Amino acid sequence: MVSYHEVRQRWESDPVKFWREAANQIEWINSPKEILDETQAPLYRWYTDGVLNTCANALDRHVASGRGEQIAILYDSPLTGSKRALTYRELLDQVSLFAGGLASLGVHKGDRVLIYMPMVPEAAIAMLACARLGAVHSVVFGGFAAAELAARIDDAEPVVIVSASCGIEPSRIVEYQPIIESAIHLAKHQPTAVVVLQRPQAPAVLGEREVEWHDLLATATGHDPVPVQATDPLYILYTSGTTGKPKGVVRDNGGHAVAMAWSFNNVYGMGPGDVWWAASDVGWVVGHSYIVYAPLICGATAVMYEGKPVGTPDAGAFWRVIEEYQVNGLFVAPTAIRAIRKEDSAGSQLRNYDIKSLRTLFLAGERLDPSTFEWASEQLGIPIVDNWWQTESGWPIASNLRGLDPMPIKSGSPSVIVPGYDVRIFDVQGSEQPAGAEGAIVIKLPMPPGTLPTLWGDNQRFIDSYLSTFPGYYTTGDSGFFDDEKYLYVMGRTDDVINVAGHRLSTGSLEAVVAANEMVAECAVIGVHDEIKGQIPRAFVVLKAGVDVDPKTLRKTIVAAVRDEIGPVAALKEVVIVPALPKTRSGKMLRATMRGIADGREVVIPSTIEDIAVLEAITPLLQGDSTAD
Ligand code: COA
Ligand code: AMP
Repeated sequence: MVSYHEVRQRWESDPVKFWREAANQIEWINSPKEILDETQAPLYRWYTDGVLNTCANALDRHVASGRGEQIAILYDSPLTGSKRALTYRELLDQVSLFAGGLASLGVHKGDRVLIYMPMVPEAAIAMLACARLGAVHSVVFGGFAAAELAARIDDAEPVVIVSASCGIEPSRIVEYQPIIESAIHLAKHQPTAVVVLQRPQAPAVLGEREVEWHDLLATATGHDPVPVQATDPLYILYTSGTTGKPKGVVRDNGGHAVAMAWSFNNVYGMGPGDVWWAASDVGWVVGHSYIVYAPLICGATAVMYEGKPVGTPDAGAFWRVIEEYQVNGLFVAPTAIRAIRKEDSAGSQLRNYDIKSLRTLFLAGERLDPSTFEWASEQLGIPIVDNWWQTESGWPIASNLRGLDPMPIKSGSPSVIVPGYDVRIFDVQGSEQPAGAEGAIVIKLPMPPGTLPTLWGDNQRFIDSYLSTFPGYYTTGDSGFFDDEKYLYVMGRTDDVINVAGHRLSTGSLEAVVAANEMVAECAVIGVHDEIKGQIPRAFVVLKAGVDVDPKTLRKTIVAAVRDEIGPVAALKEVVIVPALPKTRSGKMLRATMRGIADGREVVIPSTIEDIAVLEAITPLLQGDSTAD
């Protein structure tokens, strides 16, 4: 193995050569000659003249090279009591057929397809089928409600929606059909067809526009991979921004394929034949990159798990899967480990299983708190690797790279900057901060292949949202600092994005729903500390003059509205009535101050504050003490 410093040095001395060589891991129809196009800076494009097909890289080439009988996807669903294994050959056949089916519904290269599905292999099949056609998929997480779905339909304008009749949560069956119908009703754009995978737990009654998955396959013929430019979009993934309108993060084909291959090998230390399990959901970026694309592009076996870490059936659920499939690498959000620890802090469930196959536990999606890190280290006795990144980057920005010579792991830090990224810490004026000083985490442009080239249909919003605060740099929205060995420490978001159980949410969109309640004069939604979920949203509301309402009734109404309009994933359960919200003398709400207090950071109270007593009254509530009211 080579050392991190050697690889970093190779990248620093000649980034273009570095990424030209990395591109050799991909099978190109036309190999790229132009590696980086800087002519449209600050918009950069990678491998501009390269031509490839991402699906062919994930499937066809492995079958052609003799990997056809290896299992590509292991589906395990304790929620339905079912298991399935699909070899690379079987997966290729199904993807090719489904691509043919989509084509028969009028899906062509460049068209969008919205996928709203639970964690079943058909979700991956639908994604790969789109990639095969050169169509652009947009997967929407099943925990979002109709209005959120409608916003995505109107932005992406899909020709077809691919869905299932239901998703399954431990406490209930979630019927998708009414959600999709209502979303299509709310949306201006109308898809021409909806493909529905019928599930026996709640079959849907199909209407005129709907076609059943297997009926579509019955008349379809297989479809060959369609050549696309490296810069053609592979997918759009909507993520929460500061405002209510979600941002359509675009991922292109070429840079993405290279980044997936490079990161799976070098960051995660995984390769062909390894069994890999990212216990996330295809609706999130982790699901796109590391449930579907990276393991398949690299010829590994990917586990797809439909269940929770606890209660399906117990806190040994994850360890059972690791033993059964001899999993070599596991990737989860820290919240899942906290949930397991809560149920089984002594690790007795863990000791019922033989998990020697597991080389590394990777944790990402939210801050890894030292006590979770320490518990996992003690219980598992393997490296526990924090990695920091975001939907926009698509792959890790900071990590302890397991495909390179081992480096020390430090509790509280996702370790070092991954080659390809040039990360700096800036103060508000844009001056670089010395080791130990906290500031905005920014990335010098150009960012590496696989990172977002733009937002869907909105270059200006991309520039305004990410590239304008510090020209020449991408603003991550996180703050942090380096120690004197260049290990990064990520402290939290500097904007109105919160992270609930590894799910990214915008407090702005929650506030919009809360503020729409006729009894509410004004409100603020802040992420407060939660022992299991890391953060949970808490709404602080000021009632309109003369309104007299039972707090329980108000809470019920607001919680129901948020569930209805954003979805259960928003997880807003706490609504606190306060007499006033802290403001400056000119009436500006002190959100950043409230956020800082909620995050446990040292905050300087602005001298312009109107009434310090108002802030003092809600401080315990911001710090996570829900009983203080
Ligand atoms: N479809 C419909 N509803 C969904 C859903 C989906 N795909 N995913 C979650 N929900 C619902 C849940 O049922 C829950 O509803 P409830 O309020 O009626 O109970 C609500 O959304 C909140 O879900 P969640 O935040 O996941 O809480 P939970 O209590 O169900 O589970 C954990 C808590 C920690 C076990 C769970 O969040 C977990 O395993 N997280 C792993 C993190 C992860 O996958 N992160 C992805 C990025 S890496
Ligand atoms: P998402 O786009 O949903 O992946 O969320 C990205 C955000 O989650 C980041 O900007 C961080 O705020 C947070 N995040 C992800 N991984 C980590 C990590 N390892 N440590 C700290 N925060 C993280």
